[in-house]
Amino acid sequence: MTKGDNSSTIEALFDENRRFSPSEEFKAQANVASPAIYEQGGDVESYWRTHASRVTWKTPFTKVLDWSEAPFAKWYVDGKLNITESALDIHAQATPNKVAYYFEGEHGDTKTITYLDLYKEVCKLANALSDLGVRKGDRVAIYMGMVPEFPVALLACARLGAPHSVVFGGFSSDSLRNRINDASAKVLITCDESWRNGGRVALKELADVALSESPSIEHVVVVQRTGAPVNMVEGRDYYYHDLVVNASDERVAEEMDAEDPLFILYTSGTTAKPKGIVHTTGGYAVGVATTHSMVFDIKDGDIYWCTADVGWVTGHSYVVYGPLINGVTSVLYEGVPHFPDKDRYWEIIEKYKITQLYTAPTSIRTFMKWGTEYPSKHDLTSLRVIGTVGEPINPEAWMWYNEFIGNNRCPIVDTWWQTETGHIMISPLPGVTTTKPGSATVPLPGINVDVVDDDGNSVPNGSGGYLIVTQPWPGMARTIFNDPERFKDVYWSKFSKPEENKWVYFAGDGAKRDLDGYIWLLGRVDDVMNVSGHRISTLEVESALVDHQAVAEAAVVGRNDATTGQAIAAFVTLKGGVQGDDKLIAELRDHVATKIGKIARPASIVFTDELPKTRSGKIMRRLLRDISEQRQLGDVTTLANEDVVHEIAARAKASQSANSAE
Ligand code: WTA
Repeated sequence: MTKGDNSSTIEALFDENRRFSPSEEFKAQANVASPAIYEQGGDVESYWRTHASRVTWKTPFTKVLDWSEAPFAKWYVDGKLNITESALDIHAQATPNKVAYYFEGEHGDTKTITYLDLYKEVCKLANALSDLGVRKGDRVAIYMGMVPEFPVALLACARLGAPHSVVFGGFSSDSLRNRINDASAKVLITCDESWRNGGRVALKELADVALSESPSIEHVVVVQRTGAPVNMVEGRDYYYHDLVVNASDERVAEEMDAEDPLFILYTSGTTAKPKGIVHTTGGYAVGVATTHSMVFDIKDGDIYWCTADVGWVTGHSYVVYGPLINGVTSVLYEGVPHFPDKDRYWEIIEKYKITQLYTAPTSIRTFMKWGTEYPSKHDLTSLRVIGTVGEPINPEAWMWYNEFIGNNRCPIVDTWWQTETGHIMISPLPGVTTTKPGSATVPLPGINVDVVDDDGNSVPNGSGGYLIVTQPWPGMARTIFNDPERFKDVYWSKFSKPEENKWVYFAGDGAKRDLDGYIWLLGRVDDVMNVSGHRISTLEVESALVDHQAVAEAAVVGRNDATTGQAIAAFVTLKGGVQGDDKLIAELRDHVATKIGKIARPASIVFTDELPKTRSGKIMRRLLRDISEQRQLGDVTTLANEDVVHEIAARAKASQSANSAE
């Protein structure tokens, strides 16, 4: 690419030649083993009509898709259902003693919950909530730790047709208050406290602060987890156990239209106000059940584990609804990976003989940093499929996951999707797709994506651009709560041509499509740098850095530079025992230059013990940009480790003057 070329494609310079095909053994037993499935997916409506039978309908739908009011879709028109009948009733009848969840407390306490137990518990809570005045359409806020009552709370709301609005238990009082108020939630379900990393999180106390300014809340239901004394407001607050003790364990499921809302889940956007993403019932149910079964190759006897918190969309779709509709046995783990020691995940896998593990690249990189001694202490041979979600996985982390967790034997499913998409969109099918480390591969059958340039034109294979979804899909967000205009504007305005009735969903991610048509996610488009007219993904540079043997984790941002537009600023965490010095800085810069090209060589490298991360583990590049540009730090409220940014800022200041000599 010539210097100064201002073509709008994103340059993806990292070349990855390793290939991994499903073994004959895996193929022979796979739920989906024939590439013909992609042809079936070519007829979107017929494909999704077929898979609708995964869900129990009270009244059959008359039409698969109504796109006449695009971008506001209607799926499974006129269909009536209650998602909890698919998730609970049919299993409680057919296989009442099958385990739905093995709960593993952070401190080692356990609980086994069968499908019949879960059914009864959900009915009890639904009855209790109904007694508190919750009716179809009322919003219920949920702010909990990872305890068995968490999925029960979501399902009890769904049983009543009351959309749940879950707020991740790591969020602050302010975030909780804003979300409760935006949704005008009527009831809040929370815990006294939750266990986290050996300590306690005072959820009820945090909730009390929010509640002092949340007038819509009429009642609070408190699950007793630690037994800590908490403030209980007479007539407003009730303990969960007191409410359910005498409640009936039968509750007729509310009949919902396929398009009635199932839940709201807030996600941050480019403005300060979070967006309340609204998902509806029928399409979401079909989408999560289909993708969960296919992507994880779910079988009757499997023990599946998704490590995500129920507070995030991954938890909604792949801890609660997908696995339960498919009637699988899951593990629900309360705590962190390093409590009491850094082998907790591997201990859990060995203990329950987990068959599928679904986790995040950020965790995998942390495990790499801790070293292989932890997984190698445990028997992980029960694993059949291992997955990742949440951010691009760099090839080195992928290879590590493959070797040390998957034993070079388990297909890796790198799944791309978003809160807004509801379910997985791009992922290998483990019995069909040849994988390449770092690529989410190709869209699932029935899903249509493209990579386009600034003008919305499809880029040729081998080029980069913006990832878009070109046809509607069942689990798609239907709107932003109370703000349909913002929904249209944020997701459907950039590349759509309403005058031609062409509606295109813009995901906000950059992607490259390689010569084989594989998709490589390059991070959010605001994480793409422009150096001397060349667009370079922060991810590519990070991958190159992590590829160096001394590096555990890296974050890269573009900072303003008078000469080159942006200069690349890197923040690097080294592996245990390695000392960062000027020699290593020079070596790393050269390493990136060798891996990608001289234009990708970081202008500055700062060593740090930790990177600033949100509580869900995402690196906060925005703060690193603030640091790099020596600005006042922006909003740090979602940060899990606030102290670290100040330390990095001091080091960055020193190193920028030292590094800028070239
Ligand atoms: C990123 C999480 C690369 C992406 C389910 C997306 C990914 C955002 C992947 C959504 C992946 C998620 N490869 N990037 N496999 N999965 N992302 O809403 O930038 O928390 O837009 O949903 O995470 O994050 P969200």
